[in-house]
Amino acid sequence: MRSKISYKIRKKKTSPIKDEALSTTCSTISITSDKLDGFTDKIFQGDCINGMQLIPSNSIDLVITDPPFAIDFKAKRSNYNRTASRVLEGYTEIPRGKYYEFTINWIKVVYRVLKESGSMYVFSGWNNLKDILNALDEVGFTTVNHIIWKYQFGVVTKRKFVTSHYHCLYVCKNDNKRIFFPYARYEKNSKDRGGGSLHYEDKEDVWVIKREYWNGDQKTPTKLPAELIEKILHYSSKEGDIVLDPFLGSGQVAVVSKMLKRHYIGFEIVKEYYEFAKKRLENNLYRIKSSDKDEQTLFDLNYEKR
Ligand SMILES: C[S@@+](CC[C@H](N)C(=O)[O-])C[C@H]1O[C@@H](n2cnc3c(N)ncnc32)[C@H](O)[C@@H]1O
Repeated sequence: MRSKISYKIRKKKTSPIKDEALSTTCSTISITSDKLDGFTDKIFQGDCINGMQLIPSNSIDLVITDPPFAIDFKAKRSNYNRTASRVLEGYTEIPRGKYYEFTINWIKVVYRVLKESGSMYVFSGWNNLKDILNALDEVGFTTVNHIIWKYQFGVVTKRKFVTSHYHCLYVCKNDNKRIFFPYARYEKNSKDRGGGSLHYEDKEDVWVIKREYWNGDQKTPTKLPAELIEKILHYSSKEGDIVLDPFLGSGQVAVVSKMLKRHYIGFEIVKEYYEFAKKRLENNLYRIKSSDKDEQTLFDLNYEKR
């Protein structure tokens, strides 16, 4: 029999990040022990490691996430070679010495909440990769693919090669039960103009996808392109599935999940980013103009039917 449980977040002294905001946001949520009542199609402000403790085990279909970095990088307005006032401030990074512990902690909770048939896609730059790969192994995830996302316009330096890729680790809990939709984007026999197989090309593990530039719009310092998230959603989920992003940033994973009729759950520790993501989700906004007087870019809930 299902028992109804009310959870309260207790503040942990050992937590690397403060969780006051989450305790006020989540403490009122009442969930049943094996259902996600109160969680779906919501995002929460606070530390995801504490927040995800409230999610029942084996309840999430897919996790797509881009965790914070462990480098000495403060995304303050002045660090950005862009129109400064449009970049929201407050990016949270993890100190280098605590990065492995932090990574193990969030990956452990994700493992518990993921369904046996579920998958996770974790994005990482090369400087954090070792910690993430080791943590995934230690927690018990099986690696399915090591995908490279190749983007345009890396930063040119005179003394080394230009970094123009990101790693995306596709992992699962139980490879025998893992769900994958091989022809979600291209039929088995669809060909390109030169006669090459489109479904083969789409399934190569190097993905060449452009970054999105939001000139004149508000933005957070890092953002995954919608095309990237859309591709993952098509291959590893179906309409109605539950998609979790513990590190929302601008809310891209939740926004694209909503566009593709998946349910979303997400966490973001920085209030300004959380509010930005919430505004996008509540108003079906894709891009938000810096000034409320400008016309805003709405996203289309019939997106897939176009
Ligand atoms: C690399 S960014 C994610 C960007 C996101 N994928 C997007 O497309 O906008 C990582 C985010 O994690 C947030 N963050 C850092 N530590 C966190 C924690 N313990 N819980 C929740 N969010 C956290 C940071 O504030 C940052 O916005």
